[in-house]
Amino acid sequence: MPIPPRTYARNRRASTHHLIRRLFDGRVARTGLSIESLNFGGQQILRFIGEFWTSKQRQASSLHEISYRACFKPQLPRFFIDRLTQPGEVVYDPFMGRGTTPIEAALLGRNVIGNDANPLSRTFTRPRLHPPSLEDIARRIDRIKIDKNASSSLDLSMFYHARTEAEILSLRRYLAKRAASRGEDDIDRWIRMVATNRLTGHSNGFFSVYTLPPNQAMSAENQRRINRSRKQKPEYRDVKELVLRKTKSLLRNISDEQKEALARVGGRARFLTSDAGRTRSIADNSVQLTVTSPPFLDTVNYAKDNWLRSWFNSVNWEEVAGRLTVVRSIEVWTHAMARVFQELYRITSPDGVVAFEVGEIRKRNLKLDEVVVPIGIQAGFRCAGVLINQQKFTKTSNIWGIKNNRAGTNTNRIVVFHKSE
Ligand SMILES: C[S@@+](CC[C@H](N)C(=O)[O-])C[C@H]1O[C@@H](n2cnc3c(N)ncnc32)[C@H](O)[C@@H]1O
Repeated sequence: MPIPPRTYARNRRASTHHLIRRLFDGRVARTGLSIESLNFGGQQILRFIGEFWTSKQRQASSLHEISYRACFKPQLPRFFIDRLTQPGEVVYDPFMGRGTTPIEAALLGRNVIGNDANPLSRTFTRPRLHPPSLEDIARRIDRIKIDKNASSSLDLSMFYHARTEAEILSLRRYLAKRAASRGEDDIDRWIRMVATNRLTGHSNGFFSVYTLPPNQAMSAENQRRINRSRKQKPEYRDVKELVLRKTKSLLRNISDEQKEALARVGGRARFLTSDAGRTRSIADNSVQLTVTSPPFLDTVNYAKDNWLRSWFNSVNWEEVAGRLTVVRSIEVWTHAMARVFQELYRITSPDGVVAFEVGEIRKRNLKLDEVVVPIGIQAGFRCAGVLINQQKFTKTSNIWGIKNNRAGTNTNRIVVFHKSE
């Protein structure tokens, strides 16, 4: 029998066993999952393998469609938020990236806290909790003056047509002025987010000539090389028109119910740019659910990938790089994650849950879920189990910079921890 959500919410001391039943709607035996038993120093941990969600199952909101390296699909946080929290409870992500967890949680009416040491993360996430109307954005963008002679000390001619570059520079100047005078509002922040997302890419929906996907900026030198080999020259792209086009696409399927939820939650949402292991401003025992996926080893260099986006937002990417966890060994990574888990234990409410997603590092034959289990236990959590979501892939996915389609599946390994009393 499935456990009714209210009974679960009232039962603040629900056991770890209940938690697993809740995740599988009380039907573990009937779901066709395969179950393995792992032994950690005499403690038995179950690993559930199956297809828990599919990308088609329920269409994700268009509001998520901002590219970011190593982001997870909205269906992943939704699986846990739906089953383990009630509207109004706090959902958190210490490594929020493009903000998949906070956005999904807000769409479901949960209160949210998001953190990422990269300030661009906040630039991408916060505006989507306060989406302005297309008309408001069109009116604002129309008022922004374009200086046709605007120029920069940075040579960007390998990416942009001269007219496009002048439009980008004018927009950048306008946004910087608004921020400096503390006049930046939700509409400006939205325009900033969309423009940042449109800076580079490989279709004519972006400001640049053909280059890498928008979440991986090419160096100026390499872009010149691409231009030579493809015999291409940047063509004119209308910056204002492209910002409006992407806005329309982001807003295309938000329901009235979701709009209301965003309006309720948006004002209370908190976004931090701290190290995930030091988030002093989050109160003890205040978070019901954390859904997150950490950085791993040096396969993705978030700061370098974002140099152009950082430039547009006047963020010093070299300084940000120094604050991000980029590690070369599993020992250093384990040490960094131990600090994060201590912090998660402090802020998690009694009976709260942490769902910690780790990718698959096949090359190294490393099962990161098995590395994470003892780290969480040492911080004080009980490990409720490991979920391995094996999804038949529909297109090539790239997680942790490693092609993830060898077996025709897309795998998420999620370790679930419970702060039980
Ligand atoms: C795997 S990504 C998270 C992606 C996210 N789940 C999403 O859907 O977009 C890891 C994130 O950790 C951030 N990060 C790296 N080191 C950090 C640290 N020490 N503290 C906080 N965030 C950090 C990176 O900037 C990156 O955005």
